[in-house]
Amino acid sequence: MKFKSLYEPLKNELQQIEEALKDSIDAEHPIFRKSSLQLIEAGGKRIRPVFVLLSSQFGKENRSQKDIKSVAVALELIHMATLVHDDVVDDATLRRGNPTIKHTYDNRIAMYTGDYILARALEVVTTIEEAELHQVLSKTLVKVVEGEFDQLRDQYNLQQNLRTYLQRIKRKTALLIATSCKLGAIAAGAKREHVRHLYQYGYYVGMSFQIIDDILDITASPEQLGKPTGSDLLQGNITLPVLCAMEDEHFKKQLQALFQHPEKISQQGIDEILSLLVETDAIERSYRLSNLYLEKANIALNKLPQKDAKTALQIIANMIGKRKF
Ligand code: IPE
Ligand code: IPE
Ligand code: MG
Ligand code: MG
Repeated sequence: MKFKSLYEPLKNELQQIEEALKDSIDAEHPIFRKSSLQLIEAGGKRIRPVFVLLSSQFGKENRSQKDIKSVAVALELIHMATLVHDDVVDDATLRRGNPTIKHTYDNRIAMYTGDYILARALEVVTTIEEAELHQVLSKTLVKVVEGEFDQLRDQYNLQQNLRTYLQRIKRKTALLIATSCKLGAIAAGAKREHVRHLYQYGYYVGMSFQIIDDILDITASPEQLGKPTGSDLLQGNITLPVLCAMEDEHFKKQLQALFQHPEKISQQGIDEILSLLVETDAIERSYRLSNLYLEKANIALNKLPQKDAKTALQIIANMIGKRKF
């Protein structure tokens, strides 16, 4: 099953969001328009808008559809802005199967495009008159940037542990997904208690989402990923499977040797180290941790009243654990 077929009941709303995304970056500036549109049209899973829409269904019947849509658009734009900047930092050439903005243009244009998309997100979100929403969003953004910064600081550093990894993925990924759920619910005037459970669900699902992203970076094909396999390690990012594999002395020694000269690391060197990694139980253990988070996500979900949206959120959680892209 593909994420897309799951979104079927949300088809109309998602179509509107697609239009709104394009409208929101309707820049007079030709380079901003072209570069931002390229990223929007390349697709992406739109998982954050989906979480906003599904969470909003736990709110009041007479909720403002306009506000909910604005929250969804803003969250996707914020996510996109972080991707544009992330690709500069990671020196990535492919994103969503297309050349990255930094690759098509250059780093400077990518930095401004990321800022531009973020500014457009703020424009969208400030149409909503709900101070709490703005506060939650800005606090989350601070954490996301801290998470990305931690990742940069820890590049090629093999003295890391599970705790630092979890702290980092919480900030860089899980909190934005948790916030998507929370703000969808707040915009729809949901009860506090329900907002809390949805936030927890989003947090646990988000942790699993990033763990799977890190596993797929090692196990999936470039076609599935829309970027080369092993990009994380090539960029010096130590992820969960690598941390697990480092318990194997032989793997650890090989990795230490590879990281002695980061500037000399080649794709072949990465392929070799990854073939050692998959011989260990690292991938299996990483899936196990992801599943633990998904179980927690389902526990949070069980505290919510029965609704179609709840079933959809359950299915999404299960699919995240099995996703191949
Ligand atoms: C990529 O997010 C970055 C992570 C947080 C793992 P997505 O996997 O949601 O990227 P798109 O939007 O589908 O391209
Ligand atoms: C995701 O980090 C970027 C943010 C959450 C800001 P990654 O570096 O793991 O994402 P990909 O793998 O490039 O999509
Ligand atoms: Mg990256
Ligand atoms: Mg990155």
